[in-house]
Amino acid sequence: MIKKILRELNEFKLPSVLTPICMIGEVIAEMIIPILMGNIVDKGINGGSLDYIIRTGLIMILVALFGLLAGLGGAYFGAKASTGLARNLRKKMFDNIQTFSFSNIDKFSSSGLVTRLTTDVTNIQNSYQMILRMAMRAPASMIIAMVMSFIISPRLASIYLLAVFFLALVMLFIMKTAGKYFKEVFEKYDRLNESVQENVSAIRVVKAYVREEYENNKFKIAALNIYEMFVKAEKTVTLVSPIMMGTVYACILLISWFGAHMIVSNELTTGAMMSLLTYCMNILMSLMMLSMIFVMITMSEASARRIAEVIDEKTSLGNPKKPVMEVKDGSIRFDHASFSYNKDSKDPVLKDINVDIKAGETVGIIGGTGTGKSSLVNLISRLYDVTSGAVYVGGVDVREYDMDTLRQQVSVVLQKNVLFSGTIYENLRWGDENATDEEVQRACKLACADEFIEKMPDGYNTYIEQGGTNVSGGQRQRLCIARALLKKPKILILDDSTSAVDTATDAKIRKAFAEEIPGTTKIIIAQRISSVQDCDRIIVMEDGRVNGFGSHEELLENNQIYREVYESQVGASGDADFDEKE
Ligand SMILES: Nc1ncnc2c1ncn2[C@@H]1O[C@H](COP(=O)(O)OP(=O)(O)OP(=O)(O)O)[C@@H](O)[C@H]1O
Ligand SMILES: [Mg+2]
Repeated sequence: MIKKILRELNEFKLPSVLTPICMIGEVIAEMIIPILMGNIVDKGINGGSLDYIIRTGLIMILVALFGLLAGLGGAYFGAKASTGLARNLRKKMFDNIQTFSFSNIDKFSSSGLVTRLTTDVTNIQNSYQMILRMAMRAPASMIIAMVMSFIISPRLASIYLLAVFFLALVMLFIMKTAGKYFKEVFEKYDRLNESVQENVSAIRVVKAYVREEYENNKFKIAALNIYEMFVKAEKTVTLVSPIMMGTVYACILLISWFGAHMIVSNELTTGAMMSLLTYCMNILMSLMMLSMIFVMITMSEASARRIAEVIDEKTSLGNPKKPVMEVKDGSIRFDHASFSYNKDSKDPVLKDINVDIKAGETVGIIGGTGTGKSSLVNLISRLYDVTSGAVYVGGVDVREYDMDTLRQQVSVVLQKNVLFSGTIYENLRWGDENATDEEVQRACKLACADEFIEKMPDGYNTYIEQGGTNVSGGQRQRLCIARALLKKPKILILDDSTSAVDTATDAKIRKAFAEEIPGTTKIIIAQRISSVQDCDRIIVMEDGRVNGFGSHEELLENNQIYREVYESQVGASGDADFDEKE
């Protein structure tokens, strides 16, 4: 898993290598300084040579400068490598997400993907930087300081060995305990993110249902959870500092004590003892850094796993080896097609569908909510694949087409359609990026969107906010239809796309379709009988099956469901629909 993440380093391998090298440079400088310092005391001050003091002092400045430069280099390359890794990870994830099918996205949920792209990557970035800078520096500094101490005085240096051993044990214990809490904290972050994302993206609904308090509470609990976990983890970590300091002072005391004796008996010089004391600090500091690195690794493990999951996810819909690159015509045939969202589910959403639609035909689909209308049309543009059976477009199994070719020819206005932030022109050119202004305007005219666009002060240059929140529901639907029309598809599918459009405009749009794009196969899903009754044929869906398929007159005569709905909608009450019938 870590390997998988590091594979994305690519062009940032060089800074990743340079960082530890710079850091080691810094360590070496840091290690030389105590020796020079000791020499100044022994040979300069005690030896009474001002010349020596100045010379060594100058060397010290040079070494310090070198150390400073190396430190700066380490920081620079470390930042470059870690932010670069983050960028590459995000890009890789984003690229892979673009290939995801609807069922891949169902698996992760959109908000989950956002968390992985943001929080998790930032986590990795931080710990990678830390590891690059410290993972080499800390052990290097420790080992060099240790060796130096042993060279100066093996006897005194063995005090360090004892201290290091003792501290290592304590740290290991503390980090293990804290690591467990940190791991949990990150799982709780997920919940916090989920709560925020859900709330922000659906703020209108939250307000409409006066659920602010409930949402506030939910957030409070999620935030409190994290707070408590962090406090627990940090409580354990705070133990590190007193224990560390205690050990450091104990070492200093011991060295001073034994050192003083040795100086008196001329076994040690004062300068050497000063160097030893500096190394003492160095060694113990490195140990502390090492322990922090362990915490970092624990904390980023979960994030690394979550990122790797997205990078590794294979799209459930792939292009075939030799894809068909042309859709001959707009005919559609369902051949014993069955489908379920969950492969193991016993009750499929669509059961044994057999339908034959000719090119250029206009077909209505009607049926109660959840009867599988959207699922049925989603199979045509291969947003999902059938579980068994097959769907043919233009006489070819949809799984044999190049996916882009197929989707270019099958234009779907999804039930949950969205607009993107940008002008109306920009939004509609999603359908055809080379469309001229005139073509865009013609498509809008067909979708009856021209009337309200022209009334807007900026006309077609009106800026649409993210998600299309600054146009009405019906206006949004009409814009989405226009966008789909611009693709000049062979098959046009409208999934409940005129539900928010008034009946008269709805009829006008359908009339325009019949006159202006007669060759296009049109599939219209609707709840209102009036929206489909003049279609060539109508499919009546009931519990994932085709209950009836025929013209309005035929169905009125021999399909009970259709007749009942027709009577309830056109009859006395006039506003009943499917749901009320059940
Ligand atoms: N992404 C999904 N994952 C799992 N189950 C789903 C998914 N989308 C729909 N379903 C289920 O599939 C069934 C059919 O849903 P579908 O959206 O096709 O109904 P529909 O006829 O379009 O309904 P409506 O008129 O409300 O749009 C429903 O029971 C629904 O719960
Ligand atoms: Mg639907």
